[in-house]
Amino acid sequence: MPTISRTKPKITWLQVVIHTLGWLPLAWLFYDYFAGRLSVNPIQDIEQRLGRIAVYFLIATLACTPFNSLFGWLEFLKRRRALGLYAFMYTSLHVMVFAGLDYGFNLSQLFDLITQKLYLLVGTIALLMLIPLAATSFDYFIRRMGRNWKRLHWLIYPAAIISMLHYALAQKGNLFALRGNILKPFLLGIFMILLLVLRNPSVRKWVIGIRRKLSVRSRHLRHANKINPG
Ligand code: HEM
Repeated sequence: MPTISRTKPKITWLQVVIHTLGWLPLAWLFYDYFAGRLSVNPIQDIEQRLGRIAVYFLIATLACTPFNSLFGWLEFLKRRRALGLYAFMYTSLHVMVFAGLDYGFNLSQLFDLITQKLYLLVGTIALLMLIPLAATSFDYFIRRMGRNWKRLHWLIYPAAIISMLHYALAQKGNLFALRGNILKPFLLGIFMILLLVLRNPSVRKWVIGIRRKLSVRSRHLRHANKINPG
């Protein structure tokens, strides 16, 4: 009788790092809360921290494809979904704290606020773009949707830029006059745009071409050194 060999899916160190980093900020937040290490306005503190963590995961998600082009490591591409889902998880928690803890899910009050404050409107638009991306990130939808999946997931570009705009607008200061506490979202926004440019197919092709040329040259050099050491 033929034996069926079942190979266990291998857990990679990058997976371990990503899932540890995925839960660590939440554990840290709980710890700070129960240890009384948050500010005098703990809800705002939690809300802001969750928002920032969401942005970091969004940036990490967008960095996977450029990292794969630059270093030729396929593992980065396989971890995009986990990072994207962590970004969505922290965004959802950020919004839940705002809507639930700050406003007790009072929908009419929330609606008024969102339509009155630009940064909230912008944040809501980003969230509405992220929802279908997270919902269709599973293999079932990738198989069923075919080319439409790629078309839909193109939404990550405007969603990422709009999220950064929300971040910058949420800071005290003036984004348009470049005044106040907006240096961090501004620099992160530039980094994010760079990542988005590196994801462009022609730019990717160019980067991969350069990497391959460099690796062929270094292989030749190593070979030459072996034949003629010193
Ligand atoms: C993709 C979606 C979103 C992301 C990535 C995001 C991220 C952020 C970030 C990074 C901050 C600034 C944190 C800081 O001050 O250091 C922030 C602030 C805030 N966001 Fe969001 N956000 C999103 C959507 C939303 C939505 C939909 C709402 C509510 C409708 C919202 C409500 C707020 C509030 C109330 C603040 C705090 C503003 C303050 O400091 O007073 N966010 N968000």
